[in-house]
Amino acid sequence: MKQYNFDEIVERKGSSCVKHDALRKFYGRDDLLPMWVADMDFRSPDFVMEAIRKRCQHEVLGYATPSDSYYEVMRQWLRKHYSVEAQRDDLHYIPGIVAGIAFVLQTFTHPGDSVLVLTPVYPPFLNLPENNGRQLVCSPLQLVNGRFEIDFDDLEERAQTCKLMILSNPHNPGGRVWTPEELRRIADICYRNNLVVIADEIHADLTLPGFVHTSFSTVSPQARECSITFIAPSKTFNIAGLSSSLSYIPSPILRERFHHFLDSYEVANGNIFAFVGAEAAFRYGEEWLLQLEDYLKENVAFLDHYLKHDLPQVKAVLPEASFLPWLDFSGFGYSHQESLDRLLNRAHVALNDGTSFGGNDYENFFRINIGCPRQTLAEALNRIKEAFVE
Ligand SMILES: Cc1ncc(COP(=O)(O)O)c(C=O)c1O
Repeated sequence: MKQYNFDEIVERKGSSCVKHDALRKFYGRDDLLPMWVADMDFRSPDFVMEAIRKRCQHEVLGYATPSDSYYEVMRQWLRKHYSVEAQRDDLHYIPGIVAGIAFVLQTFTHPGDSVLVLTPVYPPFLNLPENNGRQLVCSPLQLVNGRFEIDFDDLEERAQTCKLMILSNPHNPGGRVWTPEELRRIADICYRNNLVVIADEIHADLTLPGFVHTSFSTVSPQARECSITFIAPSKTFNIAGLSSSLSYIPSPILRERFHHFLDSYEVANGNIFAFVGAEAAFRYGEEWLLQLEDYLKENVAFLDHYLKHDLPQVKAVLPEASFLPWLDFSGFGYSHQESLDRLLNRAHVALNDGTSFGGNDYENFFRINIGCPRQTLAEALNRIKEAFVE
């Protein structure tokens, strides 16, 4: 059995990656330790690289089509991990989930329609509806004992005016793994109010030991009928740059409309490496995933221990899935601007600013990406401590 080395520091600067090479564009300086964009600093798995290298040996990179085996591997993964019984035609390649959300907005809503999200949330959930001329309706999550919870009365009230809900399952930021009961209640509310639900399950595979991911469509017949689920190998296998994702739509009515949109705009044809990389990832990735989850879980424990002992002014929402804890810096009593200034100009660490995730209560929150070697995480925390503790 191969042992993956997640402690290895891989130099990524100069590899055209957003996380390391777009710092100046987003933060105004590039001498920052990048703990922001949600990809990991680990080497992408050897079996994915091998499959891509093998395909390159053919040396004709003409138009690509997904093979039957690509869809078969996806079906098996969904069945084995999430008890999702997808038929071949329920699945469709899409060139990224953010793009997929935009396609769903175009297919199922009109300009002026309202779109429901739970805040704070992954910023494109906020920007996509607004950039497409839709109204954004936010139902704020409640932070209860360091864990996000849904205010179902609020959700029920706001759903009445909306046409679509975009759900991060598990949630980004903070990594809440929604329970079957929570998902059933969301499905019930959305179904009764005629909302289509996008269940974005890009982080599902990285549900950490001790927690269980439930795929939205499996919780009830209502969930099955009203949902479009997005999955991807991007986070799981650190191959986001391949733009390889899938939609799963069990409802024939929703499926027909969505696939018609994809066909008529010719927006989901895909590239050869997206198909080859995803197939290899889901075919050979079980062992890598087990080892990665253990490593990420230890990073969560490391962060938790560090904050409690060395930086008690910072409180964390620790992830049950994935690698994106949500940090509350308000214990220092600094303004948002002061915190930002200390992070960038003293600590030289790039975190995601909480104010870009929506909701009004997160002035002094920042999201940290701990999908990195433990040494990098320790370096970031030490720098933050030095810049904030006087
Ligand atoms: C909830 C969520 N959805 C989608 C994405 C990005 O998906 P894609 O790269 O397929 O557009 C991210 C990336 O961080 C995410 O956190």
